[in-house]
Amino acid sequence: MKVLLFGGAGYIGTHVALAFLERNDTVGIFDNLSSGLRSNVDERCRFIEGDILNKDQVKAALSEGWDAVVHLAAFKAAGESMLKPFKYSENNITGSLNLITECVRAKVKNFILSSSAAVYGEPSYLPVDESHPTNPTNYYGYTKLCIEENLKWYSKLKDFNFVSLRYFNAAGYDGDGRMLGLEMNPANLIPVVMEVAAGLRPNLLVFGDDYDTPDGTGVRDYVHVTDLAKGHLLAADYLLKNHQNLIVNLGSESGLSVQQIIDTAREITGKGIDVQYVERRPGDPAKLIASSTKAKKELGWVAEHSSVESIIASTWKVYQANQKKSAMFK
Ligand code: WQD
Repeated sequence: MKVLLFGGAGYIGTHVALAFLERNDTVGIFDNLSSGLRSNVDERCRFIEGDILNKDQVKAALSEGWDAVVHLAAFKAAGESMLKPFKYSENNITGSLNLITECVRAKVKNFILSSSAAVYGEPSYLPVDESHPTNPTNYYGYTKLCIEENLKWYSKLKDFNFVSLRYFNAAGYDGDGRMLGLEMNPANLIPVVMEVAAGLRPNLLVFGDDYDTPDGTGVRDYVHVTDLAKGHLLAADYLLKNHQNLIVNLGSESGLSVQQIIDTAREITGKGIDVQYVERRPGDPAKLIASSTKAKKELGWVAEHSSVESIIASTWKVYQANQKKSAMFK
């Protein structure tokens, strides 16, 4: 299969590329390198530097003939999206519409969207399945929902199908250490915890310890990025075989609190990890846990690498490797 990954030089895209390469698929990566890294791109990939806001660049890339497209080119910081909505509407919505319409024109009929649990908003029941109402509490989540809605319309009107993968909290790194590029200025919990352990930040701010959860801190469903990557292979196979749409959650189906993440990180890294408890972060639900029953049933997908130990140990290894590298150049 020939698959083109838009936004493929980022954290998740790099792992997705590795998964396709492992089974000898032909992989192209289209990325504007705004947050992705050129060094993340495996040399077996065809790399195209370009921006989804530039229709000519998208058109040229698609004209090379691909069986499927994976769309991961998006900004993803929920908090930032509330402060800078233009940045998110322009890139995430306008850019995605460019990409979708150009795929239809180029007759690339199979589209996989990197979507998010943020489309659900505050859960009204747990675990969250795909029938749960979609009512995003941040603009980022709305952009993903808006893309899904457009995909539904285009698949009704044109010869075009999509799978939308609603990721829960993506975490962890390739277990074989093939991906060493760290995200710049991370805002998500696990990389921030790692930065404290590595001495790059003085402490971790824990956003709220008075939630209705066993230890008072927020509970999330952390899913290993290698498991997510596998989901994309299965989604591509599903589209090529069934020619129909699918929206599925990808989550581990288990909830971990911020405190449990800190405790495990202390054990694995052997570092103290200084913590300061502060106010809740606006828009944060107390608990978010996936039901992935549909992904199991429709795609045969199961989370195999998503234990908290595997997630934190694989991430810590990458932080240590980077520390060694930077020490060499001091
Ligand atoms: C996890 C928990 C925080 C940082 C976001 C997106 C979601 C998905 C994953 C992609 C929460 C707490 C965090 C910190 C903290 N991504 N926390 N101190 O907000 O659950 O989900 O990323 O689509 O769509 O919204 O992830 O890692 O920011 O937070 O206490 O410095 O850690 O309050 O309970 P979130 P997160």
